[in-house]
Amino acid sequence: MNQLGIYVHVPWCRSRCHYCDFAIKVVGPNSSPEHHEYLKRLQSELLSRAGAYSGSLQSIYFGGGTPSLWEPSCIETIVGDITTKFGAATEITLEANPTDCTPEKLRQWKALGINRLSIGAQTTSKTALTQLGRDHKMGDGKQAVANAAKYFDNISVDLILGVPGSSVEKSFEELAEYSVDHISIYELTIEPNTVLKTRVDNGTFHPVAENMRVEEIEQIRRIALAHGFEHYEISSFAKNNKRSLHNQLYWNGKDYLGIGMGAASYRQTKNGAIRETNPRSYKSYMRNAPIDAEEIPWNENQKDLLWLALRTNHGVKTDKIPAEIANWLIDDNLVEQRDDGLYPTFRGFLFHNQIAARIAELD
Ligand SMILES: C[S@@+](CC[C@H](N)C(=O)[O-])C[C@H]1O[C@@H](n2cnc3c(N)ncnc32)[C@H](O)[C@@H]1O
Ligand code: SF4
Repeated sequence: MNQLGIYVHVPWCRSRCHYCDFAIKVVGPNSSPEHHEYLKRLQSELLSRAGAYSGSLQSIYFGGGTPSLWEPSCIETIVGDITTKFGAATEITLEANPTDCTPEKLRQWKALGINRLSIGAQTTSKTALTQLGRDHKMGDGKQAVANAAKYFDNISVDLILGVPGSSVEKSFEELAEYSVDHISIYELTIEPNTVLKTRVDNGTFHPVAENMRVEEIEQIRRIALAHGFEHYEISSFAKNNKRSLHNQLYWNGKDYLGIGMGAASYRQTKNGAIRETNPRSYKSYMRNAPIDAEEIPWNENQKDLLWLALRTNHGVKTDKIPAEIANWLIDDNLVEQRDDGLYPTFRGFLFHNQIAARIAELD
């Protein structure tokens, strides 16, 4: 039976961070999220779309937005509905904002079946948090992890690299002291229509230059390996076998159903695959506006599966890539050959776009 994942998007945020262009709905200090209306809409979406998806459910992932803002009883209800439909998942992850990681909430999440927390610490530098427009303060990230460690034994932390004045190595070392077994490190991207884009354009924000970022990633990797982490995917480090089951479904080309505002879904078909994307606006989603569906031809899907697999150190079987292209990737030290497989090198992780571009040229 094929493996399956479910993604649930929880759209609310207290404010929009200066770098973020995700599908969110800002809920100001004087209003509260429509907890139950949103739950009802998700329940009806699940009911209408679940029939097209099947397989052995590995993972449920609550992403956002800020899932930690949602009433725990609503999370529990949708987990119950998903479990009734697809069976129990091995991994249930909730993305949490550091300020929400209070003992009370942590206890409730654990009781309702969440078994993995992904905490959006971003950095432990005060200046960087201000520049990023985050609502938490220096120290909140560490406190959140310390609190969470009393309830969870599978904690991941997100960090952002490329913010002037912040040292991801320092944040990494500080957080790795706690019970963190997974760290995701994302390079700061300046997205259109964000506060940071305006600041870059008017010269008041200068992201860290590309060559400095490469040096920093090299340093982080050294520190991570010294702490017993494995660099298993471009942006992901894990120890004690705590790789993200959910993200591995994406990289391994497994089917996933995404429900909620702006959520994406993917399933393989005999002709290739279908990718579906929900409306990104809250109003449209709540009104049940049509989902955007794109058919991916068989050939294109095979190429997607190859470059996705080469994001991770699992690599691909050598016979999946024509020798001419494999040799080019090996000569350029982007992949290495071991036994009957091709595996990305560290350089291949850094310049994965070159691997993807080369694979895109396949007939
Ligand atoms: C899906 S987001 C939302 C999670 C949660 N709301 C939070 O912010 O912690 C997951 C991660 O993407 C990363 N991210 C979002 N926008 C980014 C950007 N423009 N550049 C780099 N990383 C970004 C952040 O590290 C964030 O934790
Ligand atoms: S909390 Fe996360 S999803 Fe919300 S605005 Fe900030 S980065 Fe974006």
